[in-house]
Amino acid sequence: MAHEITLEWPGDRVETFSAESNETVLEAAARAGIRLPYDCRSGTCAECVGQVLDGAIEHRRMPRALESDDLAGGYALLCIAVPREDCRIRTGSRIQAELGSSPWG
Ligand code: FES
Repeated sequence: MAHEITLEWPGDRVETFSAESNETVLEAAARAGIRLPYDCRSGTCAECVGQVLDGAIEHRRMPRALESDDLAGGYALLCIAVPREDCRIRTGSRIQAELGSSPWG
C-alpha cells in the first residue's frame, strides 16, 4: 500500500509524493524527482537524516548512525526508512547538527 510523504524544508518549501510500502523515503523521493542528500545508503553516516513529525516509519535495518535518544525524538535515516503510514518529515541541512552524538557537532 502506498503512503503519502510530505517533506518540509526550513522556510516554506514543501514537497509531497507517494511511496510504495517496500521503498524507502529516499528511493521514493528520487522517483519523484526530489534530490535529498545521502552517502552510505546503509544507515551508518546520518547524511540523509530527517525528523518524522507525523506518521510512522520503520527502518529496514539497524539505524547505526542514530542513538536511542535520536530515535525517540523522531529522527530517521531516510535511506533505510520505509513508511508505514502517511508521513510528514522535516528535512534540511541543520538536522544533522541536532543529533545527540553527532560527529558534526
Ligand atoms: S545515507 Fe548514510 S545513513 Fe542514510
